[in-house]
Amino acid sequence: MENIFILFYTNSENIKHLKEEIKLRYPFLRPSFSYQNLLSFKSDKNFKLDSIFQINPVFARRVSLFIEKTTSYEVLPTDHFVDFENHPTGKPATEVGQKVRTIYKIKENYWITEHIHSNKLSPFPVSDPCLIQPEEAPSRAYLKIAEATMRTGESLKNKTVLELGSSPGGASYFLTTEGAKVYGVDPAEMDSSVLESPLFTHIHKSVQTVNKRDIRLGKGISIIANDMNLPFEQSLNETLRMAEMIGDDLETVYLTIKLPKPFMVKFIKGHIDKARKAGFKKVQGMSLVSHRNEYLLLMRRK
Ligand SMILES: C[S@@+](CC[C@H](N)C(=O)[O-])C[C@H]1O[C@@H](n2cnc3c(N)ncnc32)[C@H](O)[C@@H]1O
Repeated sequence: MENIFILFYTNSENIKHLKEEIKLRYPFLRPSFSYQNLLSFKSDKNFKLDSIFQINPVFARRVSLFIEKTTSYEVLPTDHFVDFENHPTGKPATEVGQKVRTIYKIKENYWITEHIHSNKLSPFPVSDPCLIQPEEAPSRAYLKIAEATMRTGESLKNKTVLELGSSPGGASYFLTTEGAKVYGVDPAEMDSSVLESPLFTHIHKSVQTVNKRDIRLGKGISIIANDMNLPFEQSLNETLRMAEMIGDDLETVYLTIKLPKPFMVKFIKGHIDKARKAGFKKVQGMSLVSHRNEYLLLMRRK
């Protein structure tokens, strides 16, 4: 078997989480070269371009097969290019099944890698849509929900969202400016920029005290967004409790799961299993650009 190297691009804050996840889920990968937030692993198993999709750690923003290292390379507009100093560049992938090249420029060398685009992957270079947070948005949670809804391609106009942990309001700001009606649950205060919106209602209490009457206020809720800073078990349980109260109207849940310590990645499988058991047919864990020691558990009914 020829030498096979797999390259993983992650967020700087999630390097330890990624290493832990790879050790746990892919013991046939052995750590090799790393540079900043790019880690390479040598594989003891044979992988080809059409089979590396089987390696999909939650904490990697891009997984690709190492092709070659060269000192001169002419970067094409379709190449995804990362030089570790500027925003990544390149045309987003457009077709499922398309071969995408990601070029990492490390000092004088160009590391050429490839992967196949699929509908489970972000089309953007190293999954970065290069979103910008508007000055008026009260928190960086704006970017998290903007990126997450971009990943699903879900339209927000005229949808009703139950947001758990909505203060100070970055996510609600994004959702209401996109035309969604938002019920925000949080015992903390909301920013005035959000309270001014006729589309926003503050359920000014902790999630544990939210009952069926509160939920009926939000008739037709089709989305739950949760970014509460609660221990993950509690956060997941409360989300599933809300999901049960909402019933059939609910379609999608965007749940940010905080894993303050890398060893906690071993609980991810349990989160996914629990979501499936609760009736969500499509469940996927993923990393967003704005994540720090956390991941997105995306749960869809259909
Ligand atoms: C990371 S912040 C959320 C940011 C927010 N989504 C935004 O868009 O600005 C976490 C929030 O969770 C809230 N929180 C913590 N425990 C909660 C609970 N039991 N019920 C509701 N909200 C809670 C906190 O008050 C805090 O405002």
